[in-house]
Amino acid sequence: MESVNVAIIFYSATGTVHALAQAVAEGAEKAGAEVRLRKVAELAPATAIDANPAWARHVRETAALAEATTDDLAWADAVLFGTPARFGNPAAPLKAFIETTGGLWREGRLTGKVYSAFTAGSTAHGGQESTLLALGNAFYHWGGIIVPPGYTDPIQFRSGNPYGTSHVSGDGPPGDVAREAARHQARRAVETAAALKAGATGRPAR
Ligand SMILES: Cc1cc2nc3c(=O)[nH]c(=O)nc-3n(C[C@H](O)[C@H](O)[C@H](O)COP(=O)(O)O)c2cc1C
Repeated sequence: MESVNVAIIFYSATGTVHALAQAVAEGAEKAGAEVRLRKVAELAPATAIDANPAWARHVRETAALAEATTDDLAWADAVLFGTPARFGNPAAPLKAFIETTGGLWREGRLTGKVYSAFTAGSTAHGGQESTLLALGNAFYHWGGIIVPPGYTDPIQFRSGNPYGTSHVSGDGPPGDVAREAARHQARRAVETAAALKAGATGRPAR
């Protein structure tokens, strides 16, 4: 298979989306990709973080994880973005990162890559789909190849979100179904990126 670089770029305050991002990374690695797992920079003041023990703990636990830069986007053939639902939209820190991409966008260096997204929300109907669709707006502007999971694997009929892996955190941390859906989503993104690269080089995908 063509070598594929995958950037997994996420925001997570209390660890749910981070757990999904780790499953996405597992799926991409298992599919043979080179993977960069990156958190985006936190925007909230320490007073807000420290007032929420789960948030403060997750910040401590992910202190050593590298922060995303636009170089990760330039390097990647496929990018999977993760964010909690925030009033039905992507979280501000991920939006802020996306708003640093104007230079790459202007140079046309975000086009033709594979993009996909995953999310979590505390309730089943609290806006996970709208969050994923809102993230997709950037992918359109970039001229990306949007690769949703759809119902392309039996796990999708159990996880139930064709727009991207999502998890209802009010039910607890991501379990086997959400993690397997995340791995499937990553695998599909890698396979699509490999096929696109093979098409560009004229070499067979496998
Ligand atoms: C300001 C704010 C807005 C939120 N808005 C939503 C929402 O629109 N829908 C929802 O289901 N959950 C919402 N939540 C809950 C988070 O999306 C949910 O707890 C998520 O699992 C957190 O992910 P994390 O653990 O990776 O930070 C909101 C949380 C905060 C702090």
